[in-house]
Parts: sequence; C-alpha cells; structure tokens
Amino acid sequence: MANDIALSVDGLRKQFLLSHSGAASLKTALLWWRRRKLEHFVALDGVNLQVGRGECVALVGRNGAGKSTLLSLISRIYRPTSGSIAVNGRIAPLLELGAGFHPDLTGVENVVFNGIILGLTRKQVQARMADIVRFAELEHHIDSPVRTYSSGMLARLGFAVAVHVDADILIVDEVLAVGDFAFEQKCYARIEDFRRSGGTILFVSHNMESVRQIADRCVWLRGGKVEMEGAPESVITAYQGDRSEVDL
Ligand SMILES: Nc1ncnc2c1ncn2[C@@H]1O[C@H](COP(=O)(O)OP(=O)(O)OP(=O)(O)O)[C@@H](O)[C@H]1O
Ligand SMILES: [Mg+2]
Repeated sequence: MANDIALSVDGLRKQFLLSHSGAASLKTALLWWRRRKLEHFVALDGVNLQVGRGECVALVGRNGAGKSTLLSLISRIYRPTSGSIAVNGRIAPLLELGAGFHPDLTGVENVVFNGIILGLTRKQVQARMADIVRFAELEHHIDSPVRTYSSGMLARLGFAVAVHVDADILIVDEVLAVGDFAFEQKCYARIEDFRRSGGTILFVSHNMESVRQIADRCVWLRGGKVEMEGAPESVITAYQGDRSEVDL
C-alpha cells in the first residue's frame, strides 16, 4: 500500500446469518427452534474505499446501510466474509457508547484498561490520566463505576481516551451525538487539531452540519454498497434527495 494511503478497503463483503423461527412468542420459538430457517443477510456488498493519510472522510447513509458494520470490520471487531482491509498506522476506534468499557470498573480503571488495549504502556496511561480526565470534564465521577455514567459521560470518556493514545487513524461512529453542545464543539476542535497534526479520520454521522464542517470527502453507503462519493456538498444533496424505502 502506498505510503500516502492510511486505509484501503477492497471488495469488502460481510454477510450475517439471520435466523427466522416463524414464531412470535418465546414458547413457540423454543418449540420451533429446530425448524428455524437460516438466511444469509448481506450487510456489505463489494465495498471499495481508500482514505488518504491526513484525510477526513464522512460516511453517510440510511439506518441499516452498513456504516457501523464497515467501521467494525476496519476496527477488526468483525472478520470480513471476503475482500481485504489494509491499514497503515494505529487505529483508535470509538464505535458504540461504552464499547470496551467494563460497567463495574471505575472511570480511571477503564481508562487504564483501554489505554493499554489501544497500545500505550501502563506508565504512559498514568502520565496522561490527568489530561484525559480534564478533557472529559469528569473529575467528580472518575472514581465511580461507569455503569453510573450518563450517555454523554460515556461518550466523553471514550472520546477523551481515543484522542490521547497517539493513534494515526480515528474511527468515530456517531457517539459524539449524545454529548452536549459544548462538548461536541470541544470534540470538533480536537478533531481539527488531530487533522492539523496529520491524523486521519473516518466518521459516521447523521448530522449533515458536522459533515459539512469537518469532512474533506463524503461517502454515501446505500444497501451495503457505495452509492456515491465525492465533495461533501454534492454527496449530501444526492443523499438527502433519496426517497426510496429503507430496507432493514
Ligand atoms: N451482528 C449482526 N447480525 C446480524 N445482522 C447484523 C449484525 N450487525 C449488523 N447487522 C445488519 O446489517 C445491516 C447493517 O447494519 P449497520 O449497523 O451497519 O447499519 P448502519 O448503517 O450503521 O445503521 P444506523 O444508521 O442505524 O446506525 C442491518 O440490516 C443490520 O441488521
Ligand atoms: Mg450504525
């Protein structure tokens, strides 16, 4: 892979196995378990995508289009059914609220745990702990178990860790949407800094204003395929003009 490419996805296909019991209640579902029908559901169907080093790419698309599946494959949470993914650098994924956090561990314990998973040493995490907590503005709650956190607090902690682990590529799936206005602005400012220092970003958003604000390029996924990619404004216009039914 060329050195100026951060991420390259080639002919990516992901199919899931869906089970149909044909039964509406738990009791009949159990009775019909043996007769259940299994069906392959294709969530991604031959996706090609390249993200240049230092580029900020937004993924847009209707519910169920395959955006989160694509980010999970790139973050190595799922394995592709076929096709390939090449990554040049270290990824910090921010996929679901609280993903990677253990509910019974405190904020501090989760920061240590996640920092290490994302490639830092324990000493490095400890040296950055104060910055992470300050960025998340969670000083009063950082010693409580994260199960007591609100959605926005979880998003704050996740984002704060992700931007303090020296990743080359930040992968963000909508989690910022639950942060309050002030925190969202702070995140975007931080994303700008990250870009200026040469970082690469791939993010999903249903907020077209954020896409316009920060993306260099926009990719529209529709029914598991890339429908269109290019300058954010033209892709957003085409996407918002799409009146077809969602096929979940
Ligand atoms: N683990 C799974 N098992 C079965 N089907 C799945 C699984 N994960 C995702 N899917 C299916 O794949 C399709 C794409 O889902 P995905 O979560 O990628 O959509 P999305 O574009 O992120 O949607 P949203 O905007 O609602 O977040 C959906 O139809 C979903 O039901
Ligand atoms: Mg999603």
